[in-house]
Amino acid sequence: MKKALVTGITGQDGYFLTKLLLEKDYEVHGIVRRNSQNSLGNLESLNESDLQNVNIHWGDITDNLFIDTVISKIKPEEIYHLAAQSFVGFSFENPKFTYDVNISGTLNIINAVKEYSSTSKLYFAATSELFGKVQEIPQKETTPFYPRSPYGVSKLAGFWSIKNYRESYDLFMSNGILFNHESEMRGPEFVTRKITLAVAKISKGIQDCLELGNLDAKRDWGYAKDYVEGMWRILQHDAADDFVLSTNETHSVREFVELAFKFAGIEIEWEGSGINEIGKDVKTGKILVKVNPAFFRPAEVDILIGDHTKASSKLGWEPKTKFEDLVKIMIEKDLERITRNNM
Ligand code: NAP
Ligand code: GDD
Repeated sequence: MKKALVTGITGQDGYFLTKLLLEKDYEVHGIVRRNSQNSLGNLESLNESDLQNVNIHWGDITDNLFIDTVISKIKPEEIYHLAAQSFVGFSFENPKFTYDVNISGTLNIINAVKEYSSTSKLYFAATSELFGKVQEIPQKETTPFYPRSPYGVSKLAGFWSIKNYRESYDLFMSNGILFNHESEMRGPEFVTRKITLAVAKISKGIQDCLELGNLDAKRDWGYAKDYVEGMWRILQHDAADDFVLSTNETHSVREFVELAFKFAGIEIEWEGSGINEIGKDVKTGKILVKVNPAFFRPAEVDILIGDHTKASSKLGWEPKTKFEDLVKIMIEKDLERITRNNM
């Protein structure tokens, strides 16, 4: 039985990756940082028997003694390093914290592999945020990087650390340059989930209006379940390398909002522009969407659209879920949750 260690196992991707690895009969180990509720985050949505099959190691990736101990004890065949301060907006307010977790924490993992488990294959969760102020459309592995946030800068350090250790010490360390991927398990501060939660509540009459920042931002949004399959394939490849995973389509925040309302049975129309733009219910004329400058970022990534040709040809990976289906999955789940909780 192969052993896999997952950092960030309580997050969105950790949930889907754990399910995939258990299906493939891995012995799954996960690192969970302590919290006052003793909560296992998204893992609590696993079924009972799956949850019992996950070996939890309580600790923080910024603690190098803890990381050394865990990695030297388990010596996993595969390590998926997903743990991060992953919210771009928060990274502008908390750059030092973001660097501590995303740079020092990543160095702790990489160095522990080199010192104590050099046959482990390591996946690093790099990101399309590396492309930032894009230098080419679409973006692929050879596109120059231009990060636009402390988060992006921190992930750039991680990306190059992986490459540097790979080349210096002949270790199997790969970067997954993943474009945005969402799901019903997405954290509520990310724009897609913020929208589907609000739209579900508005349609049930328990929220009046949705306030957003930049409606023009464009992202290449895929479904997280498809992307964890890509992570796994990256580590099954015969050599360590860097791969873009994307859908090769881009859509604006505004389009996401329209579609989410449509799936909740509400047609909206837009009026005005800039910070005065509003979205109104076509039937009732009620204002359902407003722009709030508080949600704008000091520097924005205007457009992301990937090209996953390399992952298709070398790994046989393809995203399966289309944009419309992703929005539908998310809104249906939030409607179900809200109805169930009688909120
Ligand atoms: P997420 O839901 O925010 O999950 C982040 C995970 O990291 C959580 O389990 C979190 O634990 C854990 N974590 C944070 N700081 C930690 C620390 N100091 N020690 C131990 N664990 C810590 O993120 P995600 O969407 O699943 O993304 C997974 C990874 O892929 C991240 O590295 C992210 O930056 C990267 N990425 C994501 C996307 C995307 O669109 N989702 C795209 C490209 C790259 P808690 O539950 O305790 O907070
Ligand atoms: N969060 C948020 N909230 N974003 C908003 C809002 C709002 O109210 N209004 C507009 N946006 C815009 C943001 O300015 C950004 O352009 C876009 O919506 C997407 O924002 P997020 O959902 O927060 O994601 P992100 O693209 O910044 O970062 C995500 O994807 C990266 C990969 O490109 C995260 O998952 C990162 O961890 C990941 O690396």
